[in-house]
Amino acid sequence: MYEKIKTPVDYGGIELKNPIIFAPTSMGLPEAELLERYRKLAAGGCSMIIIGDVPVKKSRFVPSLQTAKGFAFYQKLAETVHQEGCRICAQLHQSDSNLKAMVRYIPGLLTKKISQDDLRNLLNQEVGPYITNLPVKKIQDIIRGFEETAVLAKKAGFDMIQVHGDRMCGSFSSTVFNHRTDQYGGSPENRARFACEAVAAVRKAVPDMPIDYKLAVRQEDPHYGNAGVLVEELGIFLPLLERAGVTSFHVTLADHGDLNDTIPTARHPYFGTEGCFLKYCDQVRIHTKLPICGVGGLSDPDFIEQQLETGRIQCAAMSRQLIADPEWVNQVMKGREKEIHSCVRCNKDCLGGMMAHKGVHCIYERRG
Ligand SMILES: Cc1cc2nc3c(=O)[nH]c(=O)nc-3n(C[C@H](O)[C@H](O)[C@H](O)COP(=O)(O)O)c2cc1C
Ligand code: SF4
Repeated sequence: MYEKIKTPVDYGGIELKNPIIFAPTSMGLPEAELLERYRKLAAGGCSMIIIGDVPVKKSRFVPSLQTAKGFAFYQKLAETVHQEGCRICAQLHQSDSNLKAMVRYIPGLLTKKISQDDLRNLLNQEVGPYITNLPVKKIQDIIRGFEETAVLAKKAGFDMIQVHGDRMCGSFSSTVFNHRTDQYGGSPENRARFACEAVAAVRKAVPDMPIDYKLAVRQEDPHYGNAGVLVEELGIFLPLLERAGVTSFHVTLADHGDLNDTIPTARHPYFGTEGCFLKYCDQVRIHTKLPICGVGGLSDPDFIEQQLETGRIQCAAMSRQLIADPEWVNQVMKGREKEIHSCVRCNKDCLGGMMAHKGVHCIYERRG
């Protein structure tokens, strides 16, 4: 039973003890609690944890590898995860939010005239002008940030880099936001340039490290996802990204729409079923031979085993299911899969907890 889930896998040049990965998940927890959360996730048997949203510059909001304090934190995190026999990957990202615009909204936030959802929408409206008008000098500085942060990530003990293909890479990729007329805008090749330069900078900085790319795919008819790569343009983007140094693809729906689309509940009208984004993996497979990691509404061991068995995906990433039960892999290994706390995709205490600034939790914790 579950032969594939129990078998080690080569994921773009790195050996993973099994194909189950913890998907990048910003937790919004204080440091000690965060370390313990990741320790538990690692001890639960998954082969690699992707640390979500590691900034390529200094950040006011999350630890940055570019500061001594942040570097020490990530080093401790890597040590903690490694001690449990699990690998660790840094998701390098650059926000595409116009921070100057954000400052304008602080009074409204403080007086509660602007809700978190309103703020998200307001910031999304700023992304297009911000990306379209970003000076080339600033772009080059951000690319240097990817290079420097990759070196620091390796030094801190990370085993792999994931380049976040949503956020700034994603908004440069998309005609929804990118209206530039220079070498970074217009044709798909030009819109892929920023992402490829970010990947190439990481490749140059850490030549021997595998580079995963979080490939955010968007579709029309019906319209889902705003940043990211349109399904019809995958054939142009993928070879360019591969040439720049990508060694595997983590495939999901593009963001900058509603968070409930990229993190869909079971009641979502379009993405409500198990493995809701796997159809994008099929589209990606047409254009690459590199390993693909599927993500999105995965939780049932039988279903996951089947996707691995048919070769549709080489790895399966889960966020909410491993939050609901970090012991998922251990339980499957022991033949106790019936005892797994299944994620019901309600988003109540995970995404809900994050939005309420209480940190990411799960309804199962309420039962003690
Ligand atoms: C609370 C929460 C925080 C997340 N933070 C990130 C993040 O920092 N970076 C990222 O790329 N994806 C993030 N995601 C998206 C997940 O990686 C994943 O793609 C999504 O939750 C769908 O997978 P799931 O059904 O296994 O939860 C987050 C998801 C949740 C629930
Ligand atoms: S609260 Fe728990 S069960 Fe509900 S979606 Fe989040 S992780 Fe899954």
